[in-house]
Amino acid sequence: MLDIQPKIHDENRQGEAFAPFAQDPNKYKKKFYIESYGCQMNFSDSEIVASILNEKGFGATKNFEEADLIFLNTCSIREKAEQTVRKRLTEFKKIKEQKPGFLIGVLGCMAERLKTKLLEEEKLVDIVVGPDAYRSLPALIEEAETGQKAVNVLLSRDETYADIAPVRLDSNGITAFVSIMRGCNNMCSFCVVPFTRGRERSRDPYSIMAEVTDLYTRGFKEITLLGQNVDSYYWFNESSKEIVTFAKLLEKTALISNTLRVRFSTSHPKDITDDVLYTMSKYENICKYIHLPVQSGSTRILQLMNRTYTREWYLAKVDRIKEILPDCGISSDIIAGFCTETEEDHQQTLQIMQYAKYDMSYMFFYSERPGTLAERRYKDDVLIDVKKRRLQEIVDLQGKLSKESNEKDIDKTFKVLIEGSSKKSDEHWMGRNSQNKVIVFPKENYSLNKGDYAFVKVTNCTQATLLGNIVEIINNNK
Ligand code: SAH
Ligand code: SF4
Ligand code: F3S
Repeated sequence: MLDIQPKIHDENRQGEAFAPFAQDPNKYKKKFYIESYGCQMNFSDSEIVASILNEKGFGATKNFEEADLIFLNTCSIREKAEQTVRKRLTEFKKIKEQKPGFLIGVLGCMAERLKTKLLEEEKLVDIVVGPDAYRSLPALIEEAETGQKAVNVLLSRDETYADIAPVRLDSNGITAFVSIMRGCNNMCSFCVVPFTRGRERSRDPYSIMAEVTDLYTRGFKEITLLGQNVDSYYWFNESSKEIVTFAKLLEKTALISNTLRVRFSTSHPKDITDDVLYTMSKYENICKYIHLPVQSGSTRILQLMNRTYTREWYLAKVDRIKEILPDCGISSDIIAGFCTETEEDHQQTLQIMQYAKYDMSYMFFYSERPGTLAERRYKDDVLIDVKKRRLQEIVDLQGKLSKESNEKDIDKTFKVLIEGSSKKSDEHWMGRNSQNKVIVFPKENYSLNKGDYAFVKVTNCTQATLLGNIVEIINNNK
Protein backbone atom coordinates (compact mmCIF):
# COMPACT_ATOMS: atom_id res chain seq x y z
CA MET A 1 0.00 0.00 0.00
CA LEU A 2 1.40 3.38 -0.94
CA ASP A 3 1.61 6.01 1.70
CA ILE A 4 0.24 8.90 -0.35
CA GLN A 5 -3.13 10.40 0.35
CA PRO A 6 -5.18 12.31 -2.21
CA LYS A 7 -5.20 15.99 -1.28
CA ILE A 8 -8.31 17.40 0.26
CA HIS A 9 -10.22 20.27 -1.27
CA ASP A 10 -9.90 23.51 0.69
CA GLU A 11 -12.30 26.45 0.66
CA ASN A 12 -9.38 28.83 0.31
CA ARG A 13 -8.06 27.62 -2.97
CA GLN A 14 -5.08 29.94 -3.20
CA GLY A 15 -2.18 27.54 -3.28
CA GLU A 16 -4.19 24.58 -2.01
CA ALA A 17 -4.67 21.29 -3.75
CA PHE A 18 -7.95 20.24 -5.21
CA ALA A 19 -9.70 16.95 -4.49
CA PRO A 20 -9.73 14.86 -7.63
CA PHE A 21 -13.04 13.71 -8.99
CA ALA A 22 -14.37 10.39 -10.27
CA GLN A 23 -16.43 9.38 -13.27
CA ASP A 24 -18.23 6.14 -14.09
CA PRO A 25 -15.30 3.73 -14.59
CA ASN A 26 -17.13 1.53 -17.09
CA LYS A 27 -17.69 4.36 -19.52
CA TYR A 28 -14.02 4.94 -20.27
CA LYS A 29 -11.19 2.73 -21.50
CA LYS A 30 -8.46 4.51 -19.50
CA LYS A 31 -8.30 6.46 -16.27
CA PHE A 32 -6.65 9.73 -15.31
CA TYR A 33 -6.18 11.42 -11.96
CA ILE A 34 -5.82 15.21 -11.73
CA GLU A 35 -4.82 17.48 -8.86
CA SER A 36 -4.90 21.27 -9.10
CA TYR A 37 -2.96 24.00 -7.32
CA GLY A 38 -3.13 27.78 -7.35
CA CYS A 39 -5.93 30.12 -8.28
CA GLN A 40 -9.46 29.46 -9.41
CA MET A 41 -8.42 29.83 -13.05
CA ASN A 42 -6.36 26.67 -12.68
CA PHE A 43 -9.26 24.76 -11.11
CA SER A 44 -11.41 25.88 -14.02
CA ASP A 45 -8.77 24.76 -16.49
CA SER A 46 -8.69 21.29 -14.94
CA GLU A 47 -12.39 21.00 -15.79
CA ILE A 48 -11.56 21.89 -19.40
CA VAL A 49 -8.75 19.32 -19.42
CA ALA A 50 -11.19 16.70 -18.10
CA SER A 51 -13.59 17.50 -20.92
CA ILE A 52 -10.83 17.17 -23.56
CA LEU A 53 -9.69 13.86 -22.06
CA ASN A 54 -13.23 12.45 -21.81
CA GLU A 55 -13.63 12.96 -25.56
CA LYS A 56 -10.62 10.72 -26.07
CA GLY A 57 -11.83 7.92 -23.82
CA PHE A 58 -10.14 8.87 -20.54
CA GLY A 59 -12.32 8.99 -17.41
CA ALA A 60 -11.39 10.66 -14.12
CA THR A 61 -10.62 8.62 -11.03
CA LYS A 62 -10.25 9.77 -7.44
CA ASN A 63 -7.78 6.99 -6.82
CA PHE A 64 -4.36 7.61 -8.35
CA GLU A 65 -3.33 4.02 -7.72
CA GLU A 66 -5.69 2.84 -10.46
CA ALA A 67 -4.87 5.68 -12.87
CA ASP A 68 -2.98 5.26 -16.15
CA LEU A 69 -2.10 8.95 -16.08
CA ILE A 70 -1.52 11.49 -13.34
CA PHE A 71 -1.73 15.23 -13.96
CA LEU A 72 -0.66 18.02 -11.66
CA ASN A 73 -2.09 21.38 -12.71
CA THR A 74 0.48 23.66 -11.16
CA CYS A 75 1.01 27.20 -9.85
CA SER A 76 4.13 29.39 -9.90
CA ILE A 77 2.87 32.42 -8.01
CA ARG A 78 5.21 31.99 -5.02
CA GLU A 79 8.24 29.79 -4.49
CA LYS A 80 6.35 27.72 -1.95
CA ALA A 81 3.67 26.81 -4.52
CA GLU A 82 6.36 25.31 -6.74
CA GLN A 83 8.01 23.48 -3.84
CA THR A 84 4.71 21.83 -2.97
CA VAL A 85 4.42 20.47 -6.50
CA ARG A 86 8.01 19.21 -6.57
CA LYS A 87 7.39 17.38 -3.30
CA ARG A 88 4.24 15.83 -4.70
CA LEU A 89 6.14 14.68 -7.79
CA THR A 90 8.68 12.80 -5.66
CA GLU A 91 5.79 11.11 -3.88
CA PHE A 92 4.43 9.87 -7.21
CA LYS A 93 7.84 8.42 -8.03
CA LYS A 94 6.91 5.36 -5.98
CA ILE A 95 3.95 4.58 -8.23
CA LYS A 96 6.02 5.05 -11.34
CA GLU A 97 8.56 2.54 -10.07
CA GLN A 98 5.85 -0.06 -9.49
CA LYS A 99 3.85 0.50 -12.63
CA PRO A 100 5.51 0.42 -16.05
CA GLY A 101 3.78 2.53 -18.71
CA PHE A 102 2.31 4.86 -16.16
CA LEU A 103 2.59 8.54 -17.24
CA ILE A 104 2.99 11.77 -15.26
CA GLY A 105 2.08 15.14 -16.77
CA VAL A 106 2.68 18.64 -15.45
CA LEU A 107 0.13 21.21 -16.60
CA GLY A 108 -0.39 24.90 -15.87
CA CYS A 109 1.84 27.76 -14.83
CA MET A 110 4.89 25.82 -13.64
CA ALA A 111 4.91 23.92 -16.93
CA GLU A 112 4.81 27.22 -18.78
CA ARG A 113 7.49 28.86 -16.65
CA LEU A 114 9.99 26.00 -16.68
CA LYS A 115 9.19 24.46 -20.08
CA THR A 116 11.67 21.68 -21.03
CA LYS A 117 13.76 22.52 -17.95
CA LEU A 118 11.10 20.70 -15.97
CA LEU A 119 11.92 17.48 -17.85
CA GLU A 120 15.59 17.88 -16.98
CA GLU A 121 14.93 18.78 -13.34
CA GLU A 122 12.18 16.25 -12.71
CA LYS A 123 13.19 13.14 -14.60
CA LEU A 124 9.89 11.46 -13.82
CA VAL A 125 7.78 13.85 -15.79
CA ASP A 126 6.65 12.57 -19.21
CA ILE A 127 4.38 15.36 -20.40
CA VAL A 128 4.66 19.16 -20.00
CA VAL A 129 1.74 21.30 -21.17
CA GLY A 130 1.19 25.05 -20.77
CA PRO A 131 -2.22 26.68 -20.09
CA ASP A 132 -2.95 27.50 -23.75
CA ALA A 133 -2.04 24.08 -25.17
CA TYR A 134 -4.58 21.72 -23.58
CA ARG A 135 -6.21 20.88 -26.91
CA SER A 136 -2.99 19.10 -27.86
CA LEU A 137 -3.08 16.87 -24.77
CA PRO A 138 -4.45 13.74 -26.52
CA ALA A 139 -1.69 13.92 -29.16
CA LEU A 140 0.93 14.51 -26.47
CA ILE A 141 -0.30 11.49 -24.50
CA GLU A 142 0.05 9.32 -27.62
CA GLU A 143 3.57 10.63 -28.09
CA ALA A 144 4.46 9.92 -24.47
CA GLU A 145 3.02 6.41 -24.74
CA THR A 146 5.74 5.64 -27.29
CA GLY A 147 8.34 6.52 -24.68
CA GLN A 148 9.15 10.03 -25.86
CA LYS A 149 8.95 13.13 -23.69
CA ALA A 150 6.05 15.31 -24.90
CA VAL A 151 5.99 19.11 -24.56
CA ASN A 152 3.73 21.93 -25.71
CA VAL A 153 4.08 25.28 -23.98
CA LEU A 154 3.00 27.58 -26.79
CA LEU A 155 1.05 30.57 -25.55
CA SER A 156 -1.79 31.83 -27.70
CA ARG A 157 -3.29 35.24 -28.42
CA ASP A 158 -6.79 33.94 -28.97
CA GLU A 159 -7.32 30.59 -27.20
CA THR A 160 -10.25 30.86 -24.75
CA TYR A 161 -11.54 27.25 -24.92
CA ALA A 162 -14.89 28.92 -25.60
CA ASP A 163 -16.42 25.87 -27.27
CA ILE A 164 -15.37 23.35 -24.59
CA ALA A 165 -17.97 22.51 -21.96
CA PRO A 166 -16.08 22.03 -18.67
CA VAL A 167 -16.80 18.84 -16.72
CA ARG A 168 -18.03 19.73 -13.23
CA LEU A 169 -17.81 16.62 -11.16
CA ASP A 170 -16.34 17.83 -7.90
CA SER A 171 -19.01 20.47 -7.59
CA ASN A 172 -21.69 21.04 -4.96
CA GLY A 173 -24.14 21.44 -7.87
CA ILE A 174 -25.07 24.94 -6.69
CA THR A 175 -22.09 27.25 -7.28
CA ALA A 176 -19.81 27.26 -10.33
CA PHE A 177 -16.97 29.28 -11.84
CA VAL A 178 -17.08 30.45 -15.43
CA SER A 179 -13.94 31.70 -17.10
CA ILE A 180 -14.56 34.90 -19.11
CA MET A 181 -11.02 35.78 -20.12
CA ARG A 182 -7.46 34.47 -20.02
CA GLY A 183 -4.02 35.98 -19.52
CA CYS A 184 -3.08 39.37 -18.13
CA ASN A 185 -1.74 42.53 -19.77
CA ASN A 186 -0.72 44.20 -16.54
CA MET A 187 2.87 44.03 -15.55
CA CYS A 188 2.82 44.11 -11.77
CA SER A 189 6.53 43.86 -11.10
CA PHE A 190 6.24 41.02 -8.54
CA CYS A 191 3.99 38.82 -10.63
CA VAL A 192 4.73 35.79 -12.79
CA VAL A 193 1.22 35.47 -14.27
CA PRO A 194 1.80 37.55 -17.45
CA PHE A 195 4.68 35.17 -18.25
CA THR A 196 2.81 31.96 -17.49
CA ARG A 197 -0.59 32.88 -18.90
CA GLY A 198 0.29 35.21 -21.76
CA ARG A 199 -1.63 38.09 -23.26
CA GLU A 200 -5.08 39.01 -22.11
CA ARG A 201 -7.98 37.89 -24.28
CA SER A 202 -11.73 38.00 -23.68
CA ARG A 203 -14.04 35.10 -24.40
CA ASP A 204 -17.03 35.45 -26.73
CA PRO A 205 -19.95 36.65 -24.54
CA TYR A 206 -22.40 34.37 -26.34
CA SER A 207 -20.44 31.28 -25.35
CA ILE A 208 -20.31 32.62 -21.76
CA MET A 209 -24.10 33.14 -21.76
CA ALA A 210 -24.65 29.66 -23.19
CA GLU A 211 -22.50 28.11 -20.46
CA VAL A 212 -24.21 30.06 -17.67
CA THR A 213 -27.69 29.28 -19.03
CA ASP A 214 -26.80 25.60 -19.21
CA LEU A 215 -25.56 25.66 -15.61
CA TYR A 216 -28.77 27.37 -14.51
CA THR A 217 -30.97 24.78 -16.23
CA ARG A 218 -28.97 22.08 -14.46
CA GLY A 219 -29.84 23.59 -11.08
CA PHE A 220 -26.83 25.82 -10.38
CA LYS A 221 -27.80 28.97 -8.48
CA GLU A 222 -24.61 31.01 -8.35
CA ILE A 223 -21.90 31.65 -10.89
CA THR A 224 -18.62 33.51 -10.50
CA LEU A 225 -17.22 35.17 -13.60
CA LEU A 226 -13.49 34.58 -13.55
CA GLY A 227 -10.46 36.43 -14.85
CA GLN A 228 -7.18 37.92 -13.58
CA ASN A 229 -8.57 41.37 -14.27
CA VAL A 230 -12.28 41.09 -15.06
CA ASP A 231 -12.86 44.83 -15.37
CA SER A 232 -10.80 44.97 -18.54
CA TYR A 233 -13.08 42.40 -20.22
CA TYR A 234 -13.77 43.76 -23.70
CA TRP A 235 -15.32 42.07 -26.70
CA PHE A 236 -15.96 43.61 -30.10
CA ASN A 237 -17.77 41.94 -32.94
CA GLU A 238 -16.41 43.11 -36.31
CA SER A 239 -19.55 42.34 -38.28
CA SER A 240 -22.30 43.47 -35.90
CA LYS A 241 -20.13 46.23 -34.34
CA GLU A 242 -21.44 45.11 -30.96
CA ILE A 243 -19.23 46.04 -28.00
CA VAL A 244 -19.51 44.15 -24.72
CA THR A 245 -17.77 45.67 -21.70
CA PHE A 246 -17.56 43.99 -18.31
CA ALA A 247 -20.53 46.04 -17.02
CA LYS A 248 -22.56 44.88 -20.02
CA LEU A 249 -21.52 41.25 -19.51
CA LEU A 250 -22.52 41.44 -15.84
CA GLU A 251 -25.92 42.79 -16.84
CA LYS A 252 -26.46 40.11 -19.50
CA THR A 253 -25.59 37.43 -16.94
CA ALA A 254 -27.81 38.93 -14.24
CA LEU A 255 -30.75 38.97 -16.67
CA ILE A 256 -30.61 35.19 -17.24
CA SER A 257 -32.71 34.76 -14.09
CA ASN A 258 -33.26 36.78 -10.93
CA THR A 259 -32.85 33.58 -8.91
CA LEU A 260 -29.31 33.11 -10.26
CA ARG A 261 -26.63 34.90 -8.26
CA VAL A 262 -23.72 36.49 -10.08
CA ARG A 263 -20.26 37.09 -8.61
CA PHE A 264 -16.94 38.01 -10.20
CA SER A 265 -13.25 37.99 -9.41
CA THR A 266 -10.69 39.66 -9.58
CA SER A 267 -11.07 43.43 -9.90
CA HIS A 268 -8.06 45.68 -10.43
CA PRO A 269 -8.50 49.02 -8.61
CA LYS A 270 -7.35 50.93 -11.68
CA ASP A 271 -10.00 49.37 -13.95
CA ILE A 272 -13.21 48.99 -11.95
CA THR A 273 -15.63 51.60 -13.31
CA ASP A 274 -18.70 53.43 -12.00
CA ASP A 275 -20.56 51.63 -14.75
CA VAL A 276 -19.79 48.31 -13.04
CA LEU A 277 -20.78 49.70 -9.62
CA TYR A 278 -24.09 51.06 -10.95
CA THR A 279 -24.83 47.76 -12.70
CA MET A 280 -24.22 46.01 -9.38
CA SER A 281 -26.62 48.34 -7.61
CA LYS A 282 -29.28 47.92 -10.29
CA TYR A 283 -29.55 44.12 -9.99
CA GLU A 284 -30.31 42.47 -6.65
CA ASN A 285 -28.85 39.17 -7.89
CA ILE A 286 -25.39 40.64 -8.59
CA CYS A 287 -23.68 40.01 -5.28
CA LYS A 288 -22.51 43.00 -3.28
CA TYR A 289 -18.97 41.89 -2.86
CA ILE A 290 -15.76 43.10 -4.51
CA HIS A 291 -12.32 41.54 -4.24
CA LEU A 292 -10.13 44.62 -4.73
CA PRO A 293 -6.48 43.70 -4.05
CA VAL A 294 -4.48 46.64 -2.68
CA GLN A 295 -1.08 44.84 -2.37
CA SER A 296 0.44 47.73 -0.37
CA GLY A 297 -0.73 50.93 1.31
CA SER A 298 2.35 52.94 0.35
CA THR A 299 2.33 54.94 -2.89
CA ARG A 300 6.10 54.54 -3.23
CA ILE A 301 5.83 50.74 -3.01
CA LEU A 302 2.77 50.67 -5.28
CA GLN A 303 4.85 52.49 -7.89
CA LEU A 304 7.69 49.99 -7.58
CA MET A 305 5.08 47.25 -7.89
CA ASN A 306 3.83 48.92 -11.08
CA ARG A 307 0.26 48.79 -9.83
CA THR A 308 -0.43 52.15 -11.59
CA TYR A 309 -2.53 53.63 -8.76
CA THR A 310 -1.63 55.60 -5.66
CA ARG A 311 -2.75 55.20 -2.08
CA GLU A 312 -5.15 58.13 -2.61
CA TRP A 313 -6.61 56.66 -5.80
CA TYR A 314 -7.27 53.38 -3.99
CA LEU A 315 -8.90 55.15 -1.02
CA ALA A 316 -11.11 57.15 -3.40
CA LYS A 317 -12.15 53.87 -5.06
CA VAL A 318 -13.14 52.41 -1.69
CA ASP A 319 -15.15 55.59 -0.95
CA ARG A 320 -16.88 55.36 -4.33
CA ILE A 321 -17.83 51.71 -3.74
CA LYS A 322 -19.27 52.56 -0.31
CA GLU A 323 -21.14 55.54 -1.78
CA ILE A 324 -22.80 53.63 -4.63
CA LEU A 325 -23.08 50.29 -2.79
CA PRO A 326 -23.32 51.05 0.95
CA ASP A 327 -23.71 47.38 1.94
CA CYS A 328 -20.92 46.05 -0.27
CA GLY A 329 -18.32 43.65 1.18
CA ILE A 330 -14.69 44.33 0.23
CA SER A 331 -11.71 42.00 0.43
CA SER A 332 -8.07 42.31 -0.54
CA ASP A 333 -4.72 40.71 -1.33
CA ILE A 334 -1.74 42.10 0.56
CA ILE A 335 2.00 41.52 0.12
CA ALA A 336 4.34 42.14 3.08
CA GLY A 337 8.01 42.96 2.62
CA PHE A 338 8.26 43.92 -1.05
CA CYS A 339 11.69 45.25 -2.16
CA THR A 340 12.83 48.32 -0.16
CA GLU A 341 9.70 48.32 2.06
CA THR A 342 10.37 50.35 5.22
CA GLU A 343 8.60 50.28 8.57
CA GLU A 344 6.79 53.46 7.49
CA ASP A 345 5.55 51.81 4.25
CA HIS A 346 4.35 48.84 6.30
CA GLN A 347 2.48 51.15 8.70
CA GLN A 348 0.73 52.67 5.69
CA THR A 349 -0.45 49.19 4.68
CA LEU A 350 -1.90 48.64 8.15
CA GLN A 351 -3.59 52.05 7.95
CA ILE A 352 -5.15 51.41 4.56
CA MET A 353 -6.53 48.09 5.85
CA GLN A 354 -8.14 49.96 8.73
CA TYR A 355 -9.61 52.54 6.40
CA ALA A 356 -11.03 50.01 3.96
CA LYS A 357 -12.22 47.74 6.83
CA TYR A 358 -11.68 44.63 4.73
CA ASP A 359 -14.04 41.78 5.53
CA MET A 360 -11.35 39.32 4.48
CA SER A 361 -7.86 39.30 2.93
CA TYR A 362 -5.41 36.88 1.35
CA MET A 363 -2.04 37.81 2.83
CA PHE A 364 1.46 36.82 1.69
CA PHE A 365 5.06 37.77 2.17
CA TYR A 366 6.95 38.72 -0.95
CA SER A 367 8.50 35.84 -2.83
CA GLU A 368 10.87 36.81 -5.64
CA ARG A 369 9.98 35.14 -8.94
CA PRO A 370 12.56 34.57 -11.67
CA GLY A 371 12.11 36.69 -14.79
CA THR A 372 9.72 39.23 -13.27
CA LEU A 373 10.39 42.98 -13.45
CA ALA A 374 11.10 43.13 -9.73
CA GLU A 375 13.63 40.32 -9.93
CA ARG A 376 15.48 42.10 -12.72
CA ARG A 377 15.29 45.61 -11.30
CA TYR A 378 15.19 45.53 -7.52
CA LYS A 379 16.94 43.79 -4.71
CA ASP A 380 14.83 41.47 -2.53
CA ASP A 381 16.28 43.26 0.48
CA VAL A 382 13.75 42.86 3.31
CA LEU A 383 15.01 40.17 5.67
CA ILE A 384 12.83 37.07 5.89
CA ASP A 385 12.27 37.54 9.63
CA VAL A 386 11.12 41.10 9.01
CA LYS A 387 8.81 39.96 6.19
CA LYS A 388 7.30 37.33 8.48
CA ARG A 389 6.85 39.73 11.39
CA ARG A 390 5.14 42.30 9.16
CA LEU A 391 2.94 39.60 7.63
CA GLN A 392 1.95 38.47 11.13
CA GLU A 393 0.95 42.05 12.02
CA ILE A 394 -1.15 42.20 8.86
CA VAL A 395 -2.76 38.82 9.62
CA ASP A 396 -3.52 39.88 13.22
CA LEU A 397 -5.08 43.14 12.09
CA GLN A 398 -7.19 41.35 9.46
CA GLY A 399 -8.40 38.94 12.15
CA LYS A 400 -9.56 41.89 14.22
CA LEU A 401 -11.22 43.60 11.22
CA SER A 402 -13.02 40.39 10.17
CA LYS A 403 -14.33 39.91 13.70
CA GLU A 404 -15.52 43.54 13.90
CA SER A 405 -17.15 43.27 10.49
CA ASN A 406 -19.00 40.11 11.57
CA GLU A 407 -20.06 41.63 14.92
CA LYS A 408 -21.69 44.49 13.02
CA ASP A 409 -23.91 41.94 11.28
CA ILE A 410 -25.44 40.64 14.52
CA ASP A 411 -29.22 41.27 14.52
CA LYS A 412 -29.22 41.87 10.76
CA THR A 413 -31.20 39.60 8.43
CA PHE A 414 -29.67 38.34 5.18
CA LYS A 415 -30.89 36.45 2.17
CA VAL A 416 -28.81 33.29 2.14
CA LEU A 417 -28.21 30.79 -0.65
CA ILE A 418 -27.92 27.32 0.88
CA GLU A 419 -24.85 25.47 -0.44
CA GLY A 420 -25.21 22.30 1.64
CA SER A 421 -25.05 20.88 5.13
CA SER A 422 -22.54 22.45 7.49
CA LYS A 423 -19.25 20.54 7.59
CA LYS A 424 -19.50 20.22 11.35
CA SER A 425 -23.13 19.19 11.73
CA ASP A 426 -25.79 17.56 9.59
CA GLU A 427 -28.43 19.43 11.60
CA HIS A 428 -27.21 22.77 10.21
CA TRP A 429 -27.17 24.40 6.79
CA MET A 430 -24.23 26.35 5.43
CA GLY A 431 -24.77 29.18 2.96
CA ARG A 432 -23.55 32.64 1.99
CA ASN A 433 -25.06 36.08 1.96
CA SER A 434 -24.61 38.50 -0.91
CA GLN A 435 -21.44 39.88 0.77
CA ASN A 436 -19.89 36.40 0.49
CA LYS A 437 -19.94 35.76 4.23
CA VAL A 438 -20.53 32.20 5.35
CA ILE A 439 -23.65 31.75 7.53
CA VAL A 440 -24.41 28.56 9.47
CA PHE A 441 -27.90 27.98 10.87
CA PRO A 442 -30.08 25.12 12.18
CA LYS A 443 -32.22 23.30 9.61
CA GLU A 444 -35.12 23.11 12.10
CA ASN A 445 -38.29 21.62 10.59
CA TYR A 446 -38.36 23.71 7.44
CA SER A 447 -38.38 21.72 4.23
CA LEU A 448 -35.44 23.31 2.49
CA ASN A 449 -32.83 21.91 0.14
CA LYS A 450 -29.42 23.01 -1.01
CA GLY A 451 -29.88 25.61 -3.75
CA ASP A 452 -32.81 27.21 -1.90
CA TYR A 453 -32.81 30.72 -0.51
CA ALA A 454 -33.85 31.65 3.05
CA PHE A 455 -33.80 34.79 5.17
CA VAL A 456 -31.53 34.26 8.15
CA LYS A 457 -31.15 36.54 11.16
CA VAL A 458 -27.63 36.66 12.58
CA THR A 459 -27.46 35.99 16.30
CA ASN A 460 -23.75 35.37 16.87
CA CYS A 461 -20.42 35.10 15.05
CA THR A 462 -16.82 33.95 15.03
CA GLN A 463 -14.03 35.62 13.09
CA ALA A 464 -14.81 33.52 10.02
CA THR A 465 -18.50 32.65 10.26
CA LEU A 466 -21.90 34.17 11.03
CA LEU A 467 -24.36 32.09 13.05
CA GLY A 468 -28.09 32.61 12.88
CA ASN A 469 -31.67 31.35 12.60
CA ILE A 470 -34.15 31.19 9.76
CA VAL A 471 -36.75 33.96 10.01
CA GLU A 472 -38.46 33.43 6.69
CA ILE A 473 -38.31 30.96 3.84
CA ILE A 474 -38.69 32.11 0.29
CA ASN A 475 -40.94 30.44 -2.25
CA ASN A 476 -38.09 28.60 -3.87
CA ASN A 477 -40.22 27.03 -6.60
CA LYS A 478 -40.70 30.32 -8.40
N1 SAH B 1 -4.89 39.10 -10.78
C1 SAH B 1 -5.04 39.26 -9.42
C2 SAH B 1 -4.13 38.45 -8.55
C3 SAH B 1 -3.44 37.25 -9.04
S1 SAH B 1 -2.26 36.49 -8.01
C4 SAH B 1 -4.80 40.71 -9.10
O1 SAH B 1 -4.23 41.43 -9.86
O2 SAH B 1 -5.16 41.11 -8.04
C5 SAH B 1 -2.97 36.51 -6.40
C6 SAH B 1 -2.19 37.27 -5.41
O3 SAH B 1 -0.94 36.66 -5.14
C7 SAH B 1 -1.81 38.69 -5.81
O4 SAH B 1 -2.86 39.58 -5.67
C8 SAH B 1 -0.69 38.99 -4.85
O5 SAH B 1 -1.15 39.52 -3.64
C9 SAH B 1 -0.06 37.62 -4.61
N2 SAH B 1 1.24 37.52 -5.27
C10 SAH B 1 1.50 37.56 -6.59
N3 SAH B 1 2.83 37.46 -6.81
C11 SAH B 1 3.43 37.35 -5.60
C12 SAH B 1 4.79 37.23 -5.17
N4 SAH B 1 5.78 37.23 -6.03
N5 SAH B 1 5.01 37.13 -3.83
C13 SAH B 1 3.99 37.15 -2.94
N6 SAH B 1 2.71 37.27 -3.30
C14 SAH B 1 2.41 37.37 -4.62
FE1 SF4 C 1 -0.40 39.57 -11.70
FE2 SF4 C 1 -0.93 42.13 -11.66
FE3 SF4 C 1 -1.92 40.61 -13.63
FE4 SF4 C 1 -2.85 40.38 -11.14
S1 SF4 C 1 -3.02 42.19 -12.46
S2 SF4 C 1 -2.28 38.72 -12.52
S3 SF4 C 1 -1.07 40.74 -9.89
S4 SF4 C 1 0.25 41.09 -13.25
FE1 F3S D 1 -0.78 30.40 -9.86
FE2 F3S D 1 -0.96 30.54 -12.45
FE3 F3S D 1 -3.04 31.13 -10.99
S1 F3S D 1 0.75 31.19 -11.23
S2 F3S D 1 -2.14 31.93 -9.12
S3 F3S D 1 -2.09 29.16 -11.10
S4 F3S D 1 -2.50 32.04 -12.92
